[in-house]
Amino acid sequence: MNLILMGAPGAGKGTQSAKIAEKWNIPAVSTGDMLRAAVKEGTELGKAAKSFMDAGQLVPDEVVIGIIKDYLSSDKCTNGFILDGFPRSIPQAEALDAMGVKIDAALSLEVADEKIVERMSGRRICSSCGASYHVVYNPPKQADVCNVCASALYTRADDAAETVLNRLSTYHAITEPLKDYYAAKGILICVDGQEDVEDTTACVMKALSKFEA
Ligand code: AP5
Ligand code: MG
Repeated sequence: MNLILMGAPGAGKGTQSAKIAEKWNIPAVSTGDMLRAAVKEGTELGKAAKSFMDAGQLVPDEVVIGIIKDYLSSDKCTNGFILDGFPRSIPQAEALDAMGVKIDAALSLEVADEKIVERMSGRRICSSCGASYHVVYNPPKQADVCNVCASALYTRADDAAETVLNRLSTYHAITEPLKDYYAAKGILICVDGQEDVEDTTACVMKALSKFEA
């Protein structure tokens, strides 16, 4: 299964992609995670991306298209993949088409804007493995410690309320039109992402069950 996972910032893309990756045994790649790693390492890519990310804007298309092209041509993706957060603009979707990769489904997690700020303010991320938690909705077993690898949790710089509002307006203006793009191809699946994590996972798995062998 070659899957695109879409949705507003904080809709639960990272949370659900980890569950799909585990169940289907396919890799999930988040362009946001890759860019944050590059910022942390201080690479040329990270330097190019940082100011856009801090402002809640999209990193230029050619930068992320290059990353995904390299990733999809690697042998990790031969049994399928999940793209979390790519494409995020019509030019990115057209570039993906031009790579000749067949996409089975574009799954959009639907969450109202009012819920998003609350989700972001409570989010905590593992500094080592990137696992995502929420202090109320998906708390770690021990406060500020990752369940998976016991590393410390941190709050993402772009989860400040003002930046979240910028990310939301960028989503509505530039990314949300992709729903029409994939609906026109007959591969859009919209899933309610407003229920708790387990209920949302159940809806996601049901929607994807038609791709099981
Ligand atoms: P990216 O890292 O992709 O951020 P995003 O799209 O804003 O999405 P998030 O990662 O914030 O949220 P999520 O949907 O993964 O939610 P999560 O599962 O963590 O991108 C960051 C930046 O990088 C962009 O702003 C841009 O600058 C740049 N970038 C990345 N890709 C790009 C591209 N293709 N082109 C250009 N620029 C790009 O969940 C959120 C919280 O809610 C967590 O705390 C979680 O525990 C909780 N939660 C999840 N599900 C539920 C639920 N059902 N109920 C209650 N709580 C829940
Ligand atoms: Mg994410």
